[in-house]
Amino acid sequence: MNHTRNEMVAPGPHDATSRAPHGRDGPLLECRGVWKSYTMAGHRVEAVRGVDLRIDAPGFYAVMGQSGSGKSTLLHLLAALDRPDRGEIEVAGRAVHALDERAATQFRRRQIGIVFQQFNLISTLSARENVELPGMLAGEDPDWLTERSRLLLDRLGVGKRADHRPDALSGGEQQRVSIARALLFSPPLVLADEPTGNLDSASSRLLWSLLGEIAAEHQTLVLMVTHEPAAAAHCRAVYVLKDGAVHATFNTEGLDAAGVASRYQHCTG
Ligand SMILES: Nc1ncnc2c1ncn2[C@@H]1O[C@H](COP(=O)(O)OP(=O)(O)OP(=O)(O)O)[C@@H](O)[C@H]1O
Ligand SMILES: [Mg+2]
Repeated sequence: MNHTRNEMVAPGPHDATSRAPHGRDGPLLECRGVWKSYTMAGHRVEAVRGVDLRIDAPGFYAVMGQSGSGKSTLLHLLAALDRPDRGEIEVAGRAVHALDERAATQFRRRQIGIVFQQFNLISTLSARENVELPGMLAGEDPDWLTERSRLLLDRLGVGKRADHRPDALSGGEQQRVSIARALLFSPPLVLADEPTGNLDSASSRLLWSLLGEIAAEHQTLVLMVTHEPAAAAHCRAVYVLKDGAVHATFNTEGLDAAGVASRYQHCTG
């Protein structure tokens, strides 16, 4: 464990949802020559083909690219859900590519927050219990978990829904609960794969704003896969994947959705 509870639960409501920067020099995230292929029915697919990527500062960043360009595969590798065939991945100083299964489970639990398009909440548990579950599995103190989940659900604007089960919540509310769950251990890296793919446009806009705010408040790197220029306009920079590699990168400063769309077209066209 690389933190203490006291660091994670500070006295005031502001401090309790914020976190010190990851407290070390060097990039927060670095991929060097990362490759990953799959074989299906005797056919080999090179899903990720030499990704080089370095992000030094916390913040909200987007990954864009056509369907099949390797975005989800890359996120799986970053989360140690899968291992690269070649290359190196470092997250907050940890050599992710070299973790054995047990270390990868620990790493995922404490160092990575994952937000899925389908929310992946457990239907028989309340919002609060869903947020606390990873902490229960990790043997955390129940009092700390109660306090932590309350603070996070309040921050995500769903504090009043804490005792409801997922089927009593809107899609946007469910996704905010899943973000609270992802933030439980204040991870240095939050990965979100098309987090608003199942949401209406008003809920999507709220979520993009929240993810940007959370990244700043928690000094966390939030890396979001998206097909939507309006989502990427909330980010600092866009990494464009093409044929399994980072084909282009651009800053979004001063760009609205139309500006992002046009830069993206320019990169992929
Ligand atoms: N587990 C797997 N087994 C076999 N092939 C896979 C597997 N995962 C991904 N692929 C293949 O790797 C390539 C990249 O897939 P990936 O899911 O990373 O793309 P993506 O950019 O996330 O696409 P989308 O925008 O459609 O979600 C695709 O050709 C896909 O079929
Ligand atoms: Mg995908």
